[in-house]
Amino acid sequence: MELIFDTHAHYNDEAFQEDRKEVLSGLKANGVGMVVNACAALREIPEILALAEEYDFLYAAVGVHPSETYELADEDIDVLEQVAFGEIAGDVQADGTRTDKIVAIGEIGLDYHYPDTIREKQKDWFAKQIDLAKRVKLPIIVHSRDAAKDTQDMIKSEGARDTGGVIHCFSYEPEMAKAYTDMGFYIGIGGVVTFKNARKLKEIAQQMPMELMLLETDCPYLAPEPFRGRRNDSSLIHYVAETIAGLRGMSKEDVIRITTENARRFYRM
Ligand code: NI
Repeated sequence: MELIFDTHAHYNDEAFQEDRKEVLSGLKANGVGMVVNACAALREIPEILALAEEYDFLYAAVGVHPSETYELADEDIDVLEQVAFGEIAGDVQADGTRTDKIVAIGEIGLDYHYPDTIREKQKDWFAKQIDLAKRVKLPIIVHSRDAAKDTQDMIKSEGARDTGGVIHCFSYEPEMAKAYTDMGFYIGIGGVVTFKNARKLKEIAQQMPMELMLLETDCPYLAPEPFRGRRNDSSLIHYVAETIAGLRGMSKEDVIRITTENARRFYRM
């Protein structure tokens, strides 16, 4: 049976401090074949790259989450660029080519949830990182919360369509999901789809084009039912696949096979 691809996780998080090795080493036995570790802040990059080096099935995204942009200085984009082009942390092979462990720029985007958010700074860094993704020719992982219109406007105005992307942990209306899939963007679906009150996300999971769906955990956050509120890890992604299978009247095996194919295509593996 095809192994599951968890397209968005945070294994550098301190929630895995005690048992990271055990959790990661056990994933294959639990049916999880590949994981992309998403980056939220510059300070996380060394550990994210080290984890990608240590585990063959673990890949890395590099980028700065909107809620972490407040502390950035303009020249930090150069640091990110050096990392993304493989000029830091041994991502360059002897012949000068990059290894393929950095597979996306992310997570980047807009998050207006907290009232003290500096929106202009978030927008500036979203634009800078979309531009970087285009130059390094990697897709973007987009985090967007309470910022539906600005996110969509910027994805269009900054030409993010050229580089491709996923709206991770999708939380907006079905109409917005359609607008994204119409432009070839992927939709990341995780534990929230198993929640009883997630009516809109269930509708999206049921109706969106199957070839643009990615499975993700966002672990240690957003554990699916019946583990809601507990620490999440990639082995619980089975509950997400099962829920989607039920909504679409498909087998769980088909959901896994198709979403794993999608993830490989999206991350260009
Ligand atoms: Ni995340």
